[in-house]
Amino acid sequence: MSTNKELKDVLELGRIFWDSQVFLTACKLRIFDYIKKPAEVFYIAKKINCDVRATNMLLDALVSLGFVGQKGKKYAVKSKYSDFLLSDSDKNVLSILDHYYHMWDDWGKLTNCIKTGMALEKKVSIELKRQFTKSFITGMDNLTKFQKERVLNCLDLKGVKKILDIGSGPATYLREILKKNQNIMATILDLPDAAEVGKDFVIKDNLEKRISFIEGDIGEVELDNNYDCVFIFQVLHALNEKTRNLAVKKAYNALNRGGKIYIHEFFLNEKKTFPRENVIFRLNMLIHANGGDNLSVKEIKNLLESAGFSVKKEFIFKKPATVLIEGIKT
Ligand SMILES: C[S@@+](CC[C@H](N)C(=O)[O-])C[C@H]1O[C@@H](n2cnc3c(N)ncnc32)[C@H](O)[C@@H]1O
Repeated sequence: MSTNKELKDVLELGRIFWDSQVFLTACKLRIFDYIKKPAEVFYIAKKINCDVRATNMLLDALVSLGFVGQKGKKYAVKSKYSDFLLSDSDKNVLSILDHYYHMWDDWGKLTNCIKTGMALEKKVSIELKRQFTKSFITGMDNLTKFQKERVLNCLDLKGVKKILDIGSGPATYLREILKKNQNIMATILDLPDAAEVGKDFVIKDNLEKRISFIEGDIGEVELDNNYDCVFIFQVLHALNEKTRNLAVKKAYNALNRGGKIYIHEFFLNEKKTFPRENVIFRLNMLIHANGGDNLSVKEIKNLLESAGFSVKKEFIFKKPATVLIEGIKT
């Protein structure tokens, strides 16, 4: 029997995207930067170049959502959120929030994707595409910097001298490894726009002499065959089945005998109904990557074994729910 609780659940879920848009709009406008210290609406509206009345509404909404405090006529970001929401904080996650904001219109077209089974054909200018890629790749670093240790602690890099990082993005893991292991060199393979952002991260860490770049699609590029270790971290979900198989086979061929592959992925259970965030993320791939999909742990292992790898270890992490799988070219 349906009760008022179910009614509340249904109506709340149907409208929750309004809350989300209030928050993402505030982040996109960088409004929190101007309420680091208590400030009045006229000052804030001027700083973000927006209408005063509308800015007032937005600020009041942020108060009701719990991100902003209000004293008299002044508003200030709650200090417990400032690390994550202020541009000048090392811990800010504004790029990933911009990335979510950029996906807003795409998600509005989910119905079309469900009907056709195809990803959206996005027509944006080259400049805008670059901007989107910058937020996406920098956003990956925003997220990974908080969870990198759990993955890094599980990697066995004994004897490894040369790493290939396929779809490296901001190279968050790789940069950390190279900083700690002076004898390791690496190659990054990524799509051209993403590689451009990746290079900035590499240069900032003074690692450009130890990392070379291949700009291209894993489905199309030729690779050397002298690597000791290959990473494919959070990339398989963006590839269609054919390219996924090809990517893992190419990784196999690129490795020396005894070399290791590490796959890090958002995983699904066998029924593909859990964990919730990954099940929803799957639809993000439906919208953005033709043929892209999340796999179960068993499917990832099968993929590795079909390419010739012996699967040795797996590590399951919670929140975000990911799996790290180690395969060896025996
Ligand atoms: C979600 S990001 C993961 C970045 C990084 N590996 C990490 O775990 O933080 C996915 C990366 O895969 C790259 N990528 C997607 N499709 C690719 C393809 N066909 N060939 C090469 N790289 C690809 C993207 O450009 C992006 O850098």
